[in-house]
Amino acid sequence: MTAMRDRLVGALHYGADPFAGFPEGAYETDSQGWRSEHPYLSETIEMARPSLIVEVGVWKGGSTIYMADKAKSLGLDCAIVSVDTFLGAWEHWIIEQWRDSLKQKYGYPSLYYTFAANVIARGVADYVVPLPIDSNNAAEVMRHYGFSPDIVHIDAGHDRKAVLSDLELWWKLLAPGGYIIGDDYDPNMQVWPEVAMAFHEFFGTDRIENFDGKCRIRKMVGKL
Ligand SMILES: C[S@@+](CC[C@H](N)C(=O)[O-])C[C@H]1O[C@@H](n2cnc3c(N)ncnc32)[C@H](O)[C@@H]1O
Repeated sequence: MTAMRDRLVGALHYGADPFAGFPEGAYETDSQGWRSEHPYLSETIEMARPSLIVEVGVWKGGSTIYMADKAKSLGLDCAIVSVDTFLGAWEHWIIEQWRDSLKQKYGYPSLYYTFAANVIARGVADYVVPLPIDSNNAAEVMRHYGFSPDIVHIDAGHDRKAVLSDLELWWKLLAPGGYIIGDDYDPNMQVWPEVAMAFHEFFGTDRIENFDGKCRIRKMVGKL
């Protein structure tokens, strides 16, 4: 357990480790994700050597696990706060394949347990702190406790309003010199056009770098 994870568990979970006593084997693991092992995720950790990463949009934990693994392999005193309602976004409710992934029980998704099983099975529970609420509330909780992330990976809602809202919330909290990484960014707006639309509206186009479906922006010291 890193000192940062200890602090986070203390504040966000009142000191009770959220993974303690999880019944391993009771829930299936499932490594499905989208671009969860993108080079920006690992490269940015190498560059920034963060102590706090926030992921907004976690699903089954693919990208959380990839980043946790990287931070762990570098021996960083770091933790990842995994923000998700674990209820899915609208696209997961209207496309049958993803609807199955929600694994509803009596009408309520049990995606969180797939995520937890994955994190534990991959041996990175000591770097991960789930925050199973929506982005807006999560940002408020983090602000309340004075946590300022060095990296925020945004991969939650994919419509313009949702992305703009996430950018507003998390850019404010991001530490100076920190990075926002966004998923499903297509500068040509062929795929998920509203994601790029929101990024362009918020940042303009000049300061956004992108590679293979993700974009990255650095919060320069002294600049908004
Ligand atoms: C595309 S998936 C994330 C994929 C994940 N990063 C990976 O590597 O596989 C989007 C996730 O965002 C979550 N989500 C959507 N809107 C959200 C919101 N406003 N607050 C928190 N989570 C949200 C959904 O529940 C879903 O799990």
